[in-house]
Amino acid sequence: MTNSSAPQSPVSGPSNLSLKRSAELFARAEGVIPAGVSSPVRAFRKVGGTPVFFKEARGAHVIDEDGNRYLDFCMAWGPLILGHAHPKVVEAVQRAAADGLAFGTAHRHEGELAERVLAAYRYAQMVRFVVSGTEAVATAVRLARASNGRRRILKFDGCYHGHVDSLMVKAGSGVVTQGLADSAGVPAQVAADTLVIPLGDLDALEQAFREEGASLAAAIIEPVPANNGLLPQSAAYLRRLRELTSAHGTVLIFDEVITGFRFGYHGYDKVVGIEPDLTTLGKIVGGGLPVAAVLGRRELLSQLAPLGPVYQAGTMAGNPVCLAAGVATLKELSEGGVYQHIEMLGRHLDAAHPRHASVKVAQLPRIGPIVWPYFDVKAALPVAASAISAEAVGSYHRRYRSWLAQGVYLPPSAYEVCFLSAAHTTADIDKLLDVLANEA
Ligand SMILES: Cc1ncc(COP(=O)(O)O)c(C=O)c1O
Repeated sequence: MTNSSAPQSPVSGPSNLSLKRSAELFARAEGVIPAGVSSPVRAFRKVGGTPVFFKEARGAHVIDEDGNRYLDFCMAWGPLILGHAHPKVVEAVQRAAADGLAFGTAHRHEGELAERVLAAYRYAQMVRFVVSGTEAVATAVRLARASNGRRRILKFDGCYHGHVDSLMVKAGSGVVTQGLADSAGVPAQVAADTLVIPLGDLDALEQAFREEGASLAAAIIEPVPANNGLLPQSAAYLRRLRELTSAHGTVLIFDEVITGFRFGYHGYDKVVGIEPDLTTLGKIVGGGLPVAAVLGRRELLSQLAPLGPVYQAGTMAGNPVCLAAGVATLKELSEGGVYQHIEMLGRHLDAAHPRHASVKVAQLPRIGPIVWPYFDVKAALPVAASAISAEAVGSYHRRYRSWLAQGVYLPPSAYEVCFLSAAHTTADIDKLLDVLANEA
């Protein structure tokens, strides 16, 4: 372990950071791809400057097209709990690819991954694999609506569930607000079927069910909201949500795309001791390749076609190469000391931060491997999206390019969280602290 109270040496990184090649590639991409990216945050609009084009990644490090090396805490937005290009996952992918890239049929990896997932989610008896978290959520919502014949959905301000039309909705004014579309192209009628309430507000929750409970098909929540900063919810709040959904015949969906397999070989449902009706997974379950899933009890899942009337399908659903990556990842997670290592890193961070210069500029709330640098040391940590301070957001964005220049890659938005992985070390945590302390 590094002694974090020792004098801190200047941080080393790609001195004279040049992003010449990234800039050239970006200029070409911008001509043919909207904003030059396949997903908006990658465009670096919030932090400014040229997005870094990665070329290679291994363990906790990435190398860009100009040869700069960075210590990575974005970790591809969460799937890489084992680190980049984990040898066992790469080997499984190579073996599967050599046998064929796609079959469009049933194959052995599906049953194996399903059994591994269900061993972790004891309340569920069936799982169906899809390609993205967005698809998993869309399927879960359709299943919920089919099961009770209702239309309306309850979501929480600050939770992200992919770009499903009915969930691209934000709160307007008032406690229980009829949703307004958050994106052009989402019909007002679709948005109107979504109610949005603030996180962590018990009165708003009670009111929503008192007034609308009978019309709510589903309530969907990230049990640890981590897409708009880290906004931890109390177990009591989640328990009340469970009670109210049960009492009103509303399907409770835990969107565990981020949290699934994050805190141990299980879901967050086990951490809080609350069983939802449906769970959506993504990220870790595919080990870095596109796999997501919807799971739940047999009565609900057996409503999916062709057993039941709820249609869902996909040419690439259950792709054998992707599922092989998922199997290899879950195997490693179930066997190795991965979670213990990550928890040790987290404790190191918690212990080192208060003794470190970075404590003067940022709070570092952490839940397991999820860390959110919050650049406001005066404000209380928020539990609702509206409580995030403008100072915290502005400060993160202003500092961002100095972190890159010092060889540390964080998510290019203050609203995103960092992920610790099996590939990080205590020295990496110390480096993160050193970099955060530096002025922009
Ligand atoms: C909680 C949650 N749900 C759903 C999604 C959507 O998943 P995908 O990006 O795979 O469509 C995300 C993506 O970050 C997520 O964090």
